[in-house]
Amino acid sequence: MVDSLKKPQFEEMRPGIKVPSQETILTPRFYTTDFEEMAKMDLSANEDELRAILEEFRTDYNRHHFVRDEEFNQSWDCIDGETRKLFVEFLERSCTAEFSGFLLYKELGRRLKDKNPLLAEIFTLMSRDEARHAGFLNKAMSDFDLSLDLGFLTKSRKYTFFKPKFIFYATYLSEKIGYWRYITIYRHLEKHPEDRIYPIFRFFENWCQDENRHGDFFDAIMKAQPQFLNDWKARLWCRFFLLSVFATMYLNDTQRADFYASIGLDAREYDKYVIEKTNENAGRVFPVILDVNRPEFYNRLETCVSNNEKLREIDSSNAPQLIKGLRKLPYYVSNGWELLKLYLINPIRVDHLEGTAR
Ligand SMILES: [Fe+2]
Ligand SMILES: [Fe+2]
Repeated sequence: MVDSLKKPQFEEMRPGIKVPSQETILTPRFYTTDFEEMAKMDLSANEDELRAILEEFRTDYNRHHFVRDEEFNQSWDCIDGETRKLFVEFLERSCTAEFSGFLLYKELGRRLKDKNPLLAEIFTLMSRDEARHAGFLNKAMSDFDLSLDLGFLTKSRKYTFFKPKFIFYATYLSEKIGYWRYITIYRHLEKHPEDRIYPIFRFFENWCQDENRHGDFFDAIMKAQPQFLNDWKARLWCRFFLLSVFATMYLNDTQRADFYASIGLDAREYDKYVIEKTNENAGRVFPVILDVNRPEFYNRLETCVSNNEKLREIDSSNAPQLIKGLRKLPYYVSNGWELLKLYLINPIRVDHLEGTAR
């Protein structure tokens, strides 16, 4: 009894291999795209910058970074109970997100090889980075006696199809938000080493530079395709992607506030900082950014947070499916309404700054 409290039980597919957590609207997504359209893209408008980025990727600054040192070689049973559960979930989510990047970039590298060698090489080198990140996280999971079967994940997950333009909006944001997430944790633990309860966080500084470079690549490629950025449709879609990325993170992290507390962070403060920084970054390429400083922005997100709490409560009750469905309905409607109102908040136009140092 005491033991099961200390070591939360996870469902296993085989001994030591964790059943991947259920796919929901808030879990990391796997993508596929129109490879033909991607191959035909004309890069000439920003080719010099893309070539410079390729050189950076070739240099491979983090070639020797992802090596586990002796600090990992100890028992991690001291991280127990709920913290251990949240820790494993954090590692799994991060690993799945990194691995999803790996799969997409790897496939792009393979499919564009003959038709667009410049893009193909960049994607292949980015997939190298993501493979390292995912592998390092999966190895960390094994410190908690679990790991993910990434081959199984590749075959079993659903893939969302996005046209290249949407792939760029989504991956740009996920790379930049990834950068801010990692660096913010790193900087916090630098100041508070007593909160660094596991060595992986020490690796985040160089690690996040990979994500930053990946984000810069997507910035450069969008600038090579100005038609993806300079019309009213682009403004509407950029708003949509900004909101969905920010809302997803906020809903996920507030639900796991105890994880952030275990490393001395306040989940809400952390998310607000990451959102502010990512939003600011996005203003260098997107035509609009969100007005996240309005109190309304977080008030509405908070309503969604409490709706989701209610939804989880209903889910875990013993009521019949139909009753559960009926009880959940008003909360879904409320979430839809809040997200719509969030989407309708006037964004901040930044496209007039084109050509100036944004
Ligand atoms: Fe990564
Ligand atoms: Fe990345």
